[in-house]
Amino acid sequence: MLEGLQIERATTKKVKPEESKLGFGNYYTDHMFIMNYEEGKGWFNPRVIPYQPIVLDPAAKVFHYGQTIFEGLKAYRTKDGRVLLFRPEKNFLRMNRSNERLSVPELDPNKAVEALKQLIQVDQDWIPSEEGNSLYIRPYVIATQAQLGVAPSTEYMFIIIMSPVGAYYPEGVNPVKIYVESDYVRSVKGGVGEAKTAGNYAAGLKAQELAKDKGYTQVLWLDGVHRKYIEEVGSMNVFFKIGGVIHTPALSGSILDGITRNSIIHLLRHWGYEVEERAIEIGELYEASKQGKLEEAFGTGTAAVISPIGELNWQDEVLVINNGKTGELSQKLYDTLTGIQKGELEDPFGWMV
Ligand code: COI
Repeated sequence: MLEGLQIERATTKKVKPEESKLGFGNYYTDHMFIMNYEEGKGWFNPRVIPYQPIVLDPAAKVFHYGQTIFEGLKAYRTKDGRVLLFRPEKNFLRMNRSNERLSVPELDPNKAVEALKQLIQVDQDWIPSEEGNSLYIRPYVIATQAQLGVAPSTEYMFIIIMSPVGAYYPEGVNPVKIYVESDYVRSVKGGVGEAKTAGNYAAGLKAQELAKDKGYTQVLWLDGVHRKYIEEVGSMNVFFKIGGVIHTPALSGSILDGITRNSIIHLLRHWGYEVEERAIEIGELYEASKQGKLEEAFGTGTAAVISPIGELNWQDEVLVINNGKTGELSQKLYDTLTGIQKGELEDPFGWMV
């Protein structure tokens, strides 16, 4: 039990949604975790309370200067009724790296995992059990000081909310069509692309909308300087299987250090695949495809796990990958990782908590 944690239970419980109708991020559990920070005092008053609106001063810095960071992870219900978390310590270590970049005070990662476990304990009847469903957990920090000077806030809130979810993409593990974005960029080296902060996602919306208008599910982001090196796909990391070797963009400073990305690299190497983390040019994919060597492409992230790419459009040149079908490796990675996460397959790396 986290020291000093207060638990206030909801007196009325919400009606739970049908599992088949969950979608992603539409429903929230009965409780939330919250803790405050004040300069000189540190983090204080950790509490689990009924899920409710938060009251903030209209001048709170988060509204004006975007000083906020978030995380995303999932809890799973196993067939024998246990509750599993996937590498939660990784999320809170990354949260601190994001905090550092956004001048937000650090949190104790062990205490954050402890707080999360307590919250899950209280809301454990919200964890879905049907195939493909899970409890998505969203920890985040917001700057709450009511002060309009451009300077780090002296006050913050750390909050955890939880949402029972189904598949992120309604298409499921089916391949998506991707528009290669040549004008807008997500981030540049030296910016905040490595941090999980709201502004990165807001900055991506315009291109995503334009891609949708053209009939594409998401965009493939290119680097901000040359517009030729591949960075991410939508809000996911990206992998390519070329001539039997797996290639993924190296963490260059503008790319998020994905926990699913890291896990996929581990799994692939464990299976004997060669994995190259390097700068990948978009033109290379088209060249590899012409030579018949581009075998598979897929995005990786917590929300969708694996999202195969069936088609790319780069400056109106359309490239169809694996006949627009889910590749064997993409499917095997999805089945293995979700199998480990649900406690149905052996966990060779000791990832599950
Ligand atoms: C993920 O892949 O988990 C993401 O980062 C998407 C999330 C922001 C919904």
